[in-house]
Amino acid sequence: MRKASPLTPTLLLFFLLRLIPSSLSHNKQGQVYIVYLGEHSGAKNTEEILEDHHSLLFSVKNSEEEARQSLLYSYKNSINGFAAVLSDEEAAALSAMGEVVSTFPSKGRWSPHTTRSWEFIGHEEGLKGQEIDSLRSKAKDGKDVIIGMLDSGIWPESKSFSDEGMGPIPKQWKGICQEGDSFNSSNCNKKLIGARYYLKAYEAYYGALNTTYAYRSPRDHDGHGTHTASTAAGRPVPGAAALGGFAGGTPASGGAPLARLAAYKVCWPIPGPNPNIENTCFEADMLAAIDDAVGDGVGVLSISIGSVGAKPRLDKDGIAIGALHAARRGVVVACSAGNNGPAPATASNLAPWVITVGASSIDRAFRSPITLGSGMTITGQTVTPYQLKKKKLYPLIYAGDAVVPGTPTNVSGQCLPNSLSPEKARGKIVVCLRGSGLRVAKALEVKRAGGSAIILGNPLAYANEVPVDALLLPGTAVSANGTIAILNYINSSRRPTATIGRAHTVLDVRPSPVMAQFSSRGPNVLEPNLLKPDITAPGLNILAAWSEASSPTKLDDDHRRVKFNILSGTSMSCPHVSATAALLKSLYPHWSSAAIRSAMMTTATVNDANGGPIINAAGQVAGPMEYGSGHIRPNHAADSGLIYDASYEDYLLFGCATAGLQFDPSFECPKCPPSPSNLNHPSVTVANLSGTITVRRTVTNVGQSKAQYRVTVLEPVSVSVKIRPKTLGFKAAGQRKSFFITFKAHGKGNGEYVAGSYTWSDGVHFVRSPVVVSLA
Ligand SMILES: *[C@@H]1O[C@H](CO)[C@@H](O)[C@H](O)[C@H]1NC(C)=O
Ligand SMILES: *[C@@H]1O[C@H](CO)[C@@H](O)[C@H](O)[C@H]1NC(C)=O
Ligand SMILES: *[C@@H]1O[C@H](CO)[C@@H](O)[C@H](O)[C@H]1NC(C)=O
Ligand SMILES: *[C@@H]1O[C@H](CO)[C@@H](O)[C@H](O)[C@H]1NC(C)=O
Ligand SMILES: *[C@@H]1O[C@H](CO)[C@@H](O)[C@H](O)[C@H]1NC(C)=O
Ligand SMILES: *[C@@H]1O[C@H](CO)[C@@H](O)[C@H](O)[C@H]1NC(C)=O
Repeated sequence: MRKASPLTPTLLLFFLLRLIPSSLSHNKQGQVYIVYLGEHSGAKNTEEILEDHHSLLFSVKNSEEEARQSLLYSYKNSINGFAAVLSDEEAAALSAMGEVVSTFPSKGRWSPHTTRSWEFIGHEEGLKGQEIDSLRSKAKDGKDVIIGMLDSGIWPESKSFSDEGMGPIPKQWKGICQEGDSFNSSNCNKKLIGARYYLKAYEAYYGALNTTYAYRSPRDHDGHGTHTASTAAGRPVPGAAALGGFAGGTPASGGAPLARLAAYKVCWPIPGPNPNIENTCFEADMLAAIDDAVGDGVGVLSISIGSVGAKPRLDKDGIAIGALHAARRGVVVACSAGNNGPAPATASNLAPWVITVGASSIDRAFRSPITLGSGMTITGQTVTPYQLKKKKLYPLIYAGDAVVPGTPTNVSGQCLPNSLSPEKARGKIVVCLRGSGLRVAKALEVKRAGGSAIILGNPLAYANEVPVDALLLPGTAVSANGTIAILNYINSSRRPTATIGRAHTVLDVRPSPVMAQFSSRGPNVLEPNLLKPDITAPGLNILAAWSEASSPTKLDDDHRRVKFNILSGTSMSCPHVSATAALLKSLYPHWSSAAIRSAMMTTATVNDANGGPIINAAGQVAGPMEYGSGHIRPNHAADSGLIYDASYEDYLLFGCATAGLQFDPSFECPKCPPSPSNLNHPSVTVANLSGTITVRRTVTNVGQSKAQYRVTVLEPVSVSVKIRPKTLGFKAAGQRKSFFITFKAHGKGNGEYVAGSYTWSDGVHFVRSPVVVSLA
């Protein structure tokens, strides 16, 4: 295994940058810009590419020396471009040059965002865990596929990353095991075959990394990267359980247990009062990681990172640009949709060439009964390892009635830090509401004020969705209905009391899956004629490996260390899709990234384990704006029948059609590009339909050989959908056939989206595509 040399040439640069004031946004010295140049011509070697980048920079800088010093990264494997410290004027001068596609500041992105989850995916197919196993065995557990994780690094000692019994490292691997703080080449093995870290853009912005709360190496201080990596490709660990013994029983295993992992650490703590809580991941660093990962030979990239706030245009979005060039080389890129639901138009990672993953619940609960003094019982959920005394009733108080004077009334029930009065809370069970602040910090506040336990209540908006945490004291969390019942009891009782019973793990909870309230929704704010998210996978209360450098709550005052932890988020659902992609890649090594995405999307289900429609946490029937094509079914994806393929040129055409974006200077946009609805995506979206529109799709037969497919259509309300031809006959595997879908509006709409679907079937395969239409 090759060792990386420490990044000597850049250390000087960090030092210089540290002298610059930390608020770099309106400065003359400059900030980190990404200068994107599209594709490589293929005619140049890496030195020549580097020289090109230097000479472009030199053309706007005063000296060659200055040009060299300002360069942070030269992207040379798959993406053509570089990251450099530029003034706004220098950036503007570069973007005016013909060969430059776009120039944009490297922004910090948010890092948003198992055991039972994998069994549940199988189970949902009606076979109690058998079906994922059958895909795994067909795909040999993904043994020659390499999954690259862009995240907060990795805790290599976790048993999830043991290489016991694994074969030699696949030949396509060209990466390294980069050494650094508490991390040397012995930390990589035949499971974790590579690890690197990227922080030049982070340090250009924040100054030198503070190593009291982070490792300058691939080692994960935070836990997030270890969690997502083990969800994707962790080895089975018998008896794995969260603190308190919850969720244990079956061996914790990732989705593709024999796939190889390469950790690309791009997320780092945000300096400030709580550096352990929040991470940021800079685009220039991520782009370098994606470029290296593609050069290293990964087959799948898992990116549980998204943007907050305004969504950048695709040609000014580091993840989208990196993913486009990765997809061109056959790499499947899975990204989380974000945790900003349930509001509409919140989904991030909106490029058609990534697979955008929403989050849903699994069929496991950690039930603990709350018994009120009135005798009423309410079911909560908890994984706290601490218990109240048996058979004792404790005084019960609403946090809003236990605050110190001066606490703003709009947050008085929230148990924000230092808001509770110890005189009022001591010895009591305190009811705190969710809404603002961290759940685990609310528990800490109750503990600080001397409370005996916490009841974490959902406001109405969170309805039935109960995320669980390793709380620092006894406690449990309850649905909105439960919260109302408890508050009513407190209001009506002179001396309210309660107790919280011991929790136990319950399986086969119905309904499940349920769309998570936090899962970000469509419509796609950048291109309304492309449905996002694409798919949903388990993301609520997921057990996976954890960093032993941080506590399960990540709070400074929590000194516990755990090997496994339970987390919720689209960060957790994304690696489920990455793992499935790895298994499919192992089965079909020559499939394109689009083909693998298509297989997962067209075989997803819109029904839950009861056979009814999937609902959301608010109890309403969910739709494509929440789950895209539906909930992932890995084994069905292994035999999808037909696929919707898309090439690099198709994506460039899509770029032309969507706001005239040009990604590759060597590609000329046609004068009248086809509508973005025409991209050969496995879903169809037509925004603002008035009159009639016809879109085209092409399917490839990936079944055995001869097949005759017929289409059935489920029309959206007020829209007629005609497909011709209605049958497609295939004489051989690999044959392609096109068809046309004509949408006709009946009446007018108010911008609201209506959904339907069409399904091609040969009697064995059911190749389903959602259609989503808004009427003008
Ligand atoms: C890596 O570090 C460990 C623990 O400090 C040490 O035992 C091992 O020899 C080191 N390996 C290499 C290759 O330096
Ligand atoms: C690093 O972080 C620690 C803990 O938050 C803090 O006490 C220290 O001052 C920081 N060091 C620097 C150089 O900012
Ligand atoms: C509470 O009110 C204050 C002052 O009006 C406001 O700044 C704050 O955002 C509010 N907080 C919440 C959670 O609504
Ligand atoms: C909450 O309770 C009300 C009244 O009992 C019921 O109509 C509603 O469906 C419940 N909501 C949930 C999410 O359980
Ligand atoms: C409890 O009583 C207060 C004051 O009478 C009222 O504002 C509040 O809405 C009541 N809460 C519930 C849950 O009934
Ligand atoms: C929707 O279509 C109508 C009629 O074709 C047009 O006037 C309107 O500008 C369109 N709105 C949007 C948001 O594209």
